[in-house]
Amino acid sequence: MSRPVLANIDLKALQHNLARVRQLAPASNVMSIVKADAYGHNLLTCCQALGDTDAFGLLDLVDAISLRKGGYSQRVCLLEGFFTADEIPVIASYQLEPVIHSSWQLDILQQIKDELQLTVWLKIDTGMNRLGFAPADFRQIQARLSEMKCIQQVSVMSHLASADERESPATAEQLQRFESATENTGCTRSLANSAAIIAHPDCHFEWVRPGIMLYGSSPFADITANELDLRPVMSLQSEIISVKHVKQGESIGYGGTWKCHEDMRIAVVACGYGDGYPRHAPSGTPVMVAGKLTTLIGRVSMDMITVDLRGIENADSGSPVELWGRGIAVDTVAEMSGTIAYELLCGVTARVKRQEVTNG
Ligand SMILES: Cc1ncc(COP(=O)(O)O)c(C=O)c1O
Repeated sequence: MSRPVLANIDLKALQHNLARVRQLAPASNVMSIVKADAYGHNLLTCCQALGDTDAFGLLDLVDAISLRKGGYSQRVCLLEGFFTADEIPVIASYQLEPVIHSSWQLDILQQIKDELQLTVWLKIDTGMNRLGFAPADFRQIQARLSEMKCIQQVSVMSHLASADERESPATAEQLQRFESATENTGCTRSLANSAAIIAHPDCHFEWVRPGIMLYGSSPFADITANELDLRPVMSLQSEIISVKHVKQGESIGYGGTWKCHEDMRIAVVACGYGDGYPRHAPSGTPVMVAGKLTTLIGRVSMDMITVDLRGIENADSGSPVELWGRGIAVDTVAEMSGTIAYELLCGVTARVKRQEVTNG
C-alpha cells in the first residue's frame, strides 16, 4: 500500500481540449504550450496525447531533447531561447527553435559558425513589458538576422498581458502594435494564448499558443471551463485515512480555526500543501468525498486536510476523495484560495504520482 494521493491525467480530455483549440482557430497552426512539465501534468504523458499538435512550446533544453528522443518530429520552440552560447550547437542539432528576445542573444548568434542552421522566433514586446524587442526595432533586427548565414527562418511572436479581461482595451492596443510592426515582413506570426484563442479571433494569425485551456481550465474569471466546453485533464485524488467523532465546541487542526457547532464526524484526508494543495484554501472550499460534495474544515497541513462528514454517513477510512477534477473545478479551488489554476496545477509536487487514464 502506498500513500493514496494521486493525480489522474485524462488523456482523452486533453485531446478533446486540443480539438476545441482547432475548432476555435481553424486556420491556425497550434503550438501546444507544455512548459512547467505540461503545467504539472507530466510532459511526456501529455505530449503522447497531443500528437495532433503542430508544435510544442516549452523552456528547458533537457525537456526539448527528451521530446526529440521520444520520437516527436513536430516543431519545438524554446520560449526563453538559449541562455548561453554553448547551447546553440545542441539546439541546432535537435532542430529546436529558440525565441530571441534580447540583443545579447543577437550578439551571440552573430558569432556562431555558418554551418549551423537555426530557425528562430523573434519576440517583440507589444505592451507587456516583459520579454522582447521594441516593435520599432523589429524590421532592423529582422534585417540583421537575414544577413546571418546560420539563420534559416524567422517567425515572430508577442505575448498578451490582458487577453483574459475581455473588455480591456490593452489587447486591441497590443494587436495594433503587433500588426503594424510585422505586416508585409513575410514572417509567420503568433500572438494568441488561450484567452485570445477564445475571445479575440483577430489575434489568431498563423500560429496560436494554447496553454491553460488544453488542461481544461478557463482563462476567464467569469466563464467556467464547462461553459467553454473544456474538460479537466487532472483529477487530484486521495482517500480518507481516518474518521473521528468530534464534540460540539471542539476545534479542528492547527490554530483551532474551525469550531464544531455540534457533535459531528470529520475525516482526515491524505493530501496537504506538501502535495500542492493550497495552504490558503479556506474552510468551506469544496471537496468531494465518496461522490458527495462537502467542504474543507480547518487549516490545510503539510500532508493532510480535514473535511466535514455531516450528511455523508457511508464515508469511512478508504473512501475516495477528489480535491479537484471533474466534480470540483480546479478554478473553484484556485479562486477560493486567492490564486489561479495555473499555480495549483504547476504546484502539484513530485511526490504525487501522475497516472494516465485514457477511458475518459
Ligand atoms: C509565451 C507564451 N505563450 C503562450 C502561453 C500560454 O498561455 P495560456 O496558458 O494563458 O494559454 C504562455 C504561458 O504563460 C507563454 O508564456
